[in-house]
This record gives sequence, structure tokens and C-alpha cells, in this order.
Amino acid sequence: MLRAACMTTSPKTGKPGEIPGAAPDVTVPQPATITPLRRVTVPQLARFKREGQRIAMVTAYDATFARLVDEAGADVILVGDSLGMVMQGHPHTLEVTLEHMAYHARCVRRVVNRAHLVVDLPFMSYQVSPEQALVSAGRLVQEGGAEAVKLEGGARTVDAIRKIVAAGIPVMGHIGLTPQSVHEFGGFRVQARNEDGAERLRQDALALQDAGVYSLVLEGIPAALARQVSASLAIPTIGIGAGVDCDGQVLVMQDLLGLDDRFKPRFVKRYAELAGVVRGAFAQFVREVHDGRFPGEEHSFAGEAGGAAPISGGKPGGYGPG
Ligand code: KIV
Repeated sequence: MLRAACMTTSPKTGKPGEIPGAAPDVTVPQPATITPLRRVTVPQLARFKREGQRIAMVTAYDATFARLVDEAGADVILVGDSLGMVMQGHPHTLEVTLEHMAYHARCVRRVVNRAHLVVDLPFMSYQVSPEQALVSAGRLVQEGGAEAVKLEGGARTVDAIRKIVAAGIPVMGHIGLTPQSVHEFGGFRVQARNEDGAERLRQDALALQDAGVYSLVLEGIPAALARQVSASLAIPTIGIGAGVDCDGQVLVMQDLLGLDDRFKPRFVKRYAELAGVVRGAFAQFVREVHDGRFPGEEHSFAGEAGGAAPISGGKPGGYGPG
């Protein structure tokens, strides 16, 4: 595949694209070599499905990580309402508001140059009426820079979807374990495990495709069912906890990076173990401040002639205008 062929070699180890902190079997493509600056679009995602090219989607909620995800070559970045859990510390996504989503979308929008940007419609921003759904979707486009919105639910959401799509805003569907319905499910549980549930899910998928969604997240359902549904649809499916035969896969960034070492559900693969690395770095900073080893001379300024110098040393990035 094109991506694999573009992997570079780590100068330190001689192994392809190896990075410190990554899980042992993980190779990481180097950004400059794999990301031709061609924006991923809705028609392109449809083509990926037709041509059998798998779609990689990752969540992001802030500029620092969104830039890295984009540079790594993700096809789609999702500003997910999972931010209620991983950014805000809630046990579910139900307290996230449209304002929260627009704020995080703006943070991400500023730095994403290549990936297709999808933003979640949060709980109660589209359920009241199709008109409410359209107004909410429009705000995420205008205020958050979304190229598409995602909403949860099956046949009961088709009127809202039709209304949004008719205004020219692409909609990504999401069925199976839909976190906004956590209380209806009695917890975060795998869905559609019996034949009745599976048949309902198949019908939901067809109803959403018919209503005009351009892609569909399948979350927390049996792999065999996800394979069947993916094969039956013309639009790409993106799985999370739905097996390998979806047209793409998505993971929440914090899970993928191992930033929460208490959370390791079966469907997550950690591509790095960053919780320990990050905690260790903080602990070392704290120790060095406490015992006076930081800052060293090399981190301090001398009172040289010539007036004020840029604090970043004139290098790109960092703080300050320009
Ligand atoms: O909110 C989210 O991050 C999501 C993905 C897990 C699909 O909906």
C-alpha cells in the first residue's frame, strides 16, 4: 500500500519510522513523506470505498494534537463529543453542549490542512426537531469550521438527516453502541448481539443511507454483523469495536496513545504507552524544580547588548505572534 511504501527509516535504530514511546510493534510514518497536501473530501471518501482503500479516523479536540494527527496522515479527524469524557472528565457525553463542540472544533480547525474534519452534534442539539438539527449543524459549520457533522441514532433520526443534507451539509451517521443513549442501554454495552437487534441495525443502516448520510460509524457490534452491513452499503462504514471488515476504523486519541492507563477495553489497541511517559516527565520536572536543578544555565538569558531578543530564539513554532 502507498502508506507502507512511504515509511521512512529511523536514523537511530535503522527500523522503519520507529519513535520513542511507541508500542513495540508500531511503526510511525514520517509526516513530510506521507502527507501530500491534498485535502480529503466527501467524494474522495466515497472513492476510497469503491476502490477498497481503508479509512483511518482519529479524534482530536485541541490544536496541538490535531496538528500531529493531520501530519500523520489521518484521512478524517473527528471532534467527538467523547470530549465530555476525555477532556471534561464526565462519565458520559450527555453534558456536552453545542458551544463546547464549536469551541473545540475551532481549536482543531486552525491547524488541520489535509484531513476531512467532522464534528459531533451533541446530545439535545438535534433531537427536538429537524429545524433544530439544521440550525445546530449550521453553527458547527460556521462557527467550528466543520466539513461534516455526525449524529447518533437509526431510523428515528432520518428526518433530521434529510433536513441537514438538503442544506448541503454532509452528515455522518452513527449506530450500534451510541453513547448518547447510554441510559436507554443501561450502560456501555455491545449492541445487536441477538437476531432481532441485528435485523434492527441492518434496517437502521439502510434507512440512514437512504436518508443521505455519506458514511456511517458502527460502534460496539459483533464483527460478523459489521461485515454484513459494510458489504450491503454503498457508503463507507467506520468501525470502533466492530471488527476489521468495516471500510475504516476510528479510535479516541487518548485510548490510541495510552494516555489513561486505567482504561483498556477489548476494542482499543494502544499504539503508545504515554501515561507513564507523561507522568514521569511531570514528576522529573517537579523534582528538578524542588531541588533547584531547573532551569539550568542553558535555559536562562544573559543581559547581552542589542536589546530584546525573541524568546523562542527566532525558531518557528512556540509562543508569540508570527
Ligand atoms: O465521540 C466520539 O469520539 C465518537 C467516536 C468514538 C466514534 O463518536
